[in-house]
Amino acid sequence: MKHYFKLQQGSINSQFFKRVAILSVPAAVLSVALLYFDFLPLSIALLGLLFAILCNFFLLFPISSELQLLRNYIYSLANGDMQYQNIVLSEKDTKDLADALKSIHRFWTSKTATLEAKALSDAAVFDTLPDPILMLDGEGNITGANLPAQQLLGENIFTLSIDKIFSTNIFIASVEKVLKGKTSSESVFFHAPEFANSQFYAHITRLPAHLNGRASAVISLYDISKAFSFEKMQSDFVANASHELRTPLSVISGFIETLQTSAKDDTEAREAFLAIMQEQAEYMSNLIEDLLSLSRLEVGQDKALKDKIDLHEVIDDIMQALKIKAFQHSINIKINELNRIPKIIGDNNQVHQVLQNLLDNAIKYAPENSEVTVEIKTVPEIPVKAGQNVAEGRAVSISFNNKGQKINKEDLARLTEKFYRMQVHKDMKIKGTGLGLAIAKQIVMHHRGNLTVSSTTYNGNTFTVYLPIKQKIKS
Ligand SMILES: Nc1ncnc2c1ncn2[C@@H]1O[C@H](COP(=O)(O)OP(=O)(O)O)[C@@H](O)[C@H]1O
Ligand SMILES: [Mg+2]
Repeated sequence: MKHYFKLQQGSINSQFFKRVAILSVPAAVLSVALLYFDFLPLSIALLGLLFAILCNFFLLFPISSELQLLRNYIYSLANGDMQYQNIVLSEKDTKDLADALKSIHRFWTSKTATLEAKALSDAAVFDTLPDPILMLDGEGNITGANLPAQQLLGENIFTLSIDKIFSTNIFIASVEKVLKGKTSSESVFFHAPEFANSQFYAHITRLPAHLNGRASAVISLYDISKAFSFEKMQSDFVANASHELRTPLSVISGFIETLQTSAKDDTEAREAFLAIMQEQAEYMSNLIEDLLSLSRLEVGQDKALKDKIDLHEVIDDIMQALKIKAFQHSINIKINELNRIPKIIGDNNQVHQVLQNLLDNAIKYAPENSEVTVEIKTVPEIPVKAGQNVAEGRAVSISFNNKGQKINKEDLARLTEKFYRMQVHKDMKIKGTGLGLAIAKQIVMHHRGNLTVSSTTYNGNTFTVYLPIKQKIKS
């Protein structure tokens, strides 16, 4: 019914009537000739002519309308309408044509689907590459960018010219060189002030001209700031460590010199100087001990954790070790065990060290005559922030609370950095290497636990270590 309607619609066009008229000309000439020679009366001649016209009309109608239908079908295909149309035709020639058209249609439909799927999977692969990749046209406008590039440079970079995004001359000049065909590829290191002064290594490659695509060149960017900052961190560490060792050394050698010269015979001064020298030597030995611990931890990150650790024993040991220090500072240590604590799997020495460092800090930074509270309990799981890799399942939490001034946000964020010490404590001449919490953090990470710090004016400072009971990986 639908196609019949289309046939009806398609048939009414001026071409069709012109063809009927032309085909009827011979019949008309014949009628006029027969009339002229009086072979036929007018009525019969007119009837004959009418008959001829009707015959032409009915003969031409189906083929013409079917051709019209095919024409519409081809136009709809050309306009991208890939909807499959089942045209029912009656004439053999138009049927053959329609079949040919349908097979072309099928071929292109499947080809388009394959190409679309390929384009989608290419785009997905492109997006999974970790480094930003940009495509440029011949004028240097961005025609494509993978996900990392959009994350780095923003989503509205399409059609922008590359020199509107980066201003560093050396990089823009290299891009121009490649686009103008002076070289097929360029590699360049540059600073990008517009992106937090990040340092990039860029590789620019010209695409072969025969590809005829919209892209003329591809830029891959590698953010090398992290590698640089890592290198800087290492050299800062060496500089810090040397500085920390040089200070007590110069104090000691200064006193040695004084003892050899001006204070040679001054027994009172000698006693005082020797005491300072001993203190400085002790500091140096602590520092070396901490540095060795850190480097051992950094090297031994893959060391198997296989000791069954009884935390009661560990806490007893560290209480023994720090008893005198607590007494000297008039600190009362209270231990709260909130529930039964199972043994945990880990490295016994390391767990000792982390808990001792935290109790040592709590005693050291608490005001005199105050109380330090150690609270130990089990928790169903380790609290984590995004990006932290912790073990799954139940864990033990050991928290150390001491009273004291609230730690401000900036300090809080930096406490576990190597050598970082709060200015107030340096001013109060409280001794320390600034490595205790860095060591604690390394140990906790190795155990896939967590270390959290909270600080409030009312409650003081609480450092909490979470250690998994078993070492299961979170999926
Ligand atoms: N319990 C605490 N209360 C207040 N401040 C602390 C506490 N623990 C650590 N800090 C601060 O963090 C800094 C770093 O600690 P740490 O790495 O153990 O080094 P150190 O104790 O040798 O100075 C300390 O110098 C101190 O300023
Ligand atoms: Mg410390």
